[in-house]
Amino acid sequence: MKGIILSGGSGTRLSPLTKVTSKQLLPVYNKPMIMYPVETLLKAGIKDILIIIAPDHPGDYMKLLGSGKDFGARFTYEIQDKPEGLAQAFLIGADFIDNDSVCMILGDNIFEDDFSETIRNFKSGAHLFAKEVEDPERFGVVKFDENMKAVKIEEKPKEYLSNYAITGLYLYDNRVVEVAEQAKPSARGELEITELHNWYLKQGDIKVDIVNGEWVDAGTFESLFKANEIARKKHSLLNTKSTKYTKNIKECFNDIIAGV
Ligand code: TTP
Repeated sequence: MKGIILSGGSGTRLSPLTKVTSKQLLPVYNKPMIMYPVETLLKAGIKDILIIIAPDHPGDYMKLLGSGKDFGARFTYEIQDKPEGLAQAFLIGADFIDNDSVCMILGDNIFEDDFSETIRNFKSGAHLFAKEVEDPERFGVVKFDENMKAVKIEEKPKEYLSNYAITGLYLYDNRVVEVAEQAKPSARGELEITELHNWYLKQGDIKVDIVNGEWVDAGTFESLFKANEIARKKHSLLNTKSTKYTKNIKECFNDIIAGV
């Protein structure tokens, strides 16, 4: 399975922080934000990872992550010229994905849970992860039937559908590339990932799990602050005796393996 970290976008809601760097390079407690999604993929054994970035700060990503050698992985980079939607990742990444299945994670999504087993066991279809939230209208939303089977998926619903937001971690079989190629831009001019999900839903080939632990989409000042708190709590729980405050990339990698 290949991995994609979608780390473009404009991060306007975090301006002026994002005037000087990319949202996904902002600090979340003791490391840049993108290292959390890198960790999620590496933990699951995904070593071949495409990092899709905006044109603004490519050098900073290279400086932080490099070739992937320090992580025992291979990182490839592509530029998304404009933020034209999450589903565009599968067009930009079509050659990289080749004949494989793919796990995509958004560069500003931080999860407490370990998805390794689910990712390793993925075979086909689409597999998504939902979390109950208070403000579902901000997200793609999924409605379940009484057996917790997904029955409807809608992007930023205006009318109440459910409180289950679809989080930024997605597993797809190879058909996702073809489905993305067929997708048409929405009214807001984006290739919507929800369109892909509706295709899989129609095929009866989608599974949606509930995320038990904390999940943060660190795109607003409040959620970025919450992400820092979660990361700090987790770090101090695992490092109660640690007195070290500066870390090099190798030490961060060791943390990743140790699950810090
Ligand atoms: P958003 O938070 O929806 O968008 P954004 O990052 O541009 O922020 P803002 O709304 O404040 O301007 O994007 C969610 C994640 O997906 C984030 O990590 C950026 C990424 N993204 C892309 O890489 N390309 C895209 O075309 C879009 C829409 C998002």
